[in-house]
Parts: sequence; C-alpha cells; structure tokens
Amino acid sequence: MSERKIAYSAIQPSGVFTIGNYYGAVKNWVKLQQDFDCLFCVANLHAITVPQVAAELRKRTFESYALLLATGIDPETSLVYVQSQVPAHTELCWLLNCTTYMGELSRMTQYKDKSQRQGKNIRVGLFDYPVLMAADILLYQANIVPVGEDQKQHVELCRDIAERFNNTYAPTFTLPEPYFGLSGKKVKSLQDPTKKMSKSDSNLNAFVTLLDDRDTVIRKFKRAVTDSGSEIIYDEENKPGISNLIEIYSCTNDKTYLEIEKEFEGVGYGQFKLAVGESVADDLAKLQSRYNELLANKDYLEEQMKINAEKAQSIAIKTLRKARRRLGII
Ligand code: TYM
Repeated sequence: MSERKIAYSAIQPSGVFTIGNYYGAVKNWVKLQQDFDCLFCVANLHAITVPQVAAELRKRTFESYALLLATGIDPETSLVYVQSQVPAHTELCWLLNCTTYMGELSRMTQYKDKSQRQGKNIRVGLFDYPVLMAADILLYQANIVPVGEDQKQHVELCRDIAERFNNTYAPTFTLPEPYFGLSGKKVKSLQDPTKKMSKSDSNLNAFVTLLDDRDTVIRKFKRAVTDSGSEIIYDEENKPGISNLIEIYSCTNDKTYLEIEKEFEGVGYGQFKLAVGESVADDLAKLQSRYNELLANKDYLEEQMKINAEKAQSIAIKTLRKARRRLGII
C-alpha cells in the first residue's frame, strides 16, 4: 500500500442495506477512495451474534458484496472482502479479548439495547462483538473509520483497547478516529423520526432499502410521518420528521439545510415528500441496475472475494504477528 492514510469500515450482511447504511456510511466510503487507501468488509461473523438461517446468511453475504460493488466501491482500487475469509480477524479478537475489560463491554449502549430485546439466552458473541470490531480495524492500522453515529462508541472503545495495548506492551496499533460525512450520520425511521432507521424494523414503511423499486420508494416517502405546522424548516427538536427528510434530501444532492429550506419555501409537506422520494429513487436506480448485472456474474464475485481476501490476509498477518510477539505467543 502507498503512503496515503488508511480508511477501514465494515457492514453486516444481515439484510438488504437501508438508505441509513448508504447515506450514513457506504456513500462516504465511495468518496473516500479518492484520497485514502481503503478496506471494506462484509462482516458476516458479526452477523451471527444474533440467530441467522445458514442458507440465507450465505446468500446475503454474496448480495451484500455485490451491493457494495454496485455503489461504486472498486475492488481493484480498494480492498473489499468477506470477514470470515480472513482468519486473522478471529485470532486477533482472541488476543484482544485477553486485554479488554468486562466493564468496558458492559457499557456499550448497542449491547444494552440488543440484549434487552433478546431477553434470555444472550450470546457471548453479542457481548464480545465490539472486540471483534476492534480487531477488524486494528489489523489494518486504520487511521479513520467512516461509520454512522451509532458505531461511534465502538470505534472509541477500539481506540481505548489499542492505546492500552500499546502502553502495556509496545507500540503495535495505530489509534483510529471515527469519521462522519457532512450529513446522514443518523438517518431516522420514516415512521418514528425519533428512532434510527433500521433494516430490522418490523414496520416495512419505516425504512427504504437500496433495492426498493421507484414506486415503493416514493410511496414510503409519501407515507412518512411529519410534524405539525406546514413549513419546511430544519429543527430536529420540534420538527423531527421534516428535519429527517431534509437530511435525507441533502444526502442525495449535497445541498445545505439552508439551501433546501429556500428551495421549498412556501411548498407544502406533500410536495416536499414527493421531491425527496424522487431524489432518493433517482439515486438508487443507478446502483440497482449495476447490482443486477453483478449478481448475474457469480464467478466474477467469487474471484474478487478470493483475490481481495488473500490481499487482506497478507496485510493483516503482519499486525497479527506483532501482537502475538508482544504477548509472548509462539
Ligand atoms: P451495521 O451493519 O449495523 O451498519 C453499517 C453502517 O451503516 C451505518 N448505519 C447508519 N448510519 C446512519 N443512519 C442510520 N440509520 C444507520 N444505520 C446504520 C452504521 O453506523 C455503520 O457504519 N458493527 C458494524 C459493522 C462493523 C464495523 C467493523 C464497522 C464490523 N466491524 C469495523 C466499522 C469498522 C455494524 O454492525 O454496522
């Protein structure tokens, strides 16, 4: 790799990606390819921290890989690979488990939320999930980690784990920083704009996936919950619904909130919702046709997965060897 700084991120193949995943993270990944050496990973080992059906996970791993390429991530410029194909991740995870505190993991808000929803028989993997995530990032000496806001706490923990390891043994890992785009770091549900948009929401109108067709996208935006009043103004506290739509619209065209408020001055909610829906649908149309082409070419996908995993392992093994040495592991 060159002298450029390193950007690393990953996404779970636990369902078709939403526009939350796209505008919060993946669209920034595409842009970062210009200035950073980038590595992007389909985090299938993270996905099994909650129950999965094996055949479906296998299929979604392929689809997620194809979807990443369809968004414009170039597997010849960036490294795009599947986590389970690079064994260094699970090994470094174990080494880091032995330097991470239970108290640190207990404080993770995503663990608290997810474990509460799961009720009993919570898996150890769900608790340990941030350590595997730290291993992902640290193996490649990443400088920045482009994510949505919900992953910020995990990236900060990764930094703490790395810093303590470096101080206890010897400098081994680069300390990473979370990176957010100008807009989209927290895309909210279209049905409850106080909640994050999530692909696991039981209300299908709450989220838009990257594979929703034009009519579905527009219908979901038309049904989006808005606020009282009639002005298109960004005010997260008093107008969470309209603010979320302004945020999403700005992700499609890089306009500022102020520019958008001006553009829709005197326009009713209905017309604004339609404009946002159309803008998102236009954005998705391009990647959907590319996705269908890619998915039809399984040999190409398998070949890219293999080449990229080998390259990733050859980088990761260097850091892993260093970490083993520091701990006295022969
Ligand atoms: P995951 O798969 O839940 O989400 C992938 C990315 O999408 C972002 N995101 C959002 N951003 C804005 N608004 C939303 N509503 C929204 N929903 C999701 C997430 O913040 C994330 O950036 N643990 C990670 C995957 C992971 C990872 C890593 C990330 C594994 N190893 C190493 C970075 C570095 C996760 O479950 O993301």
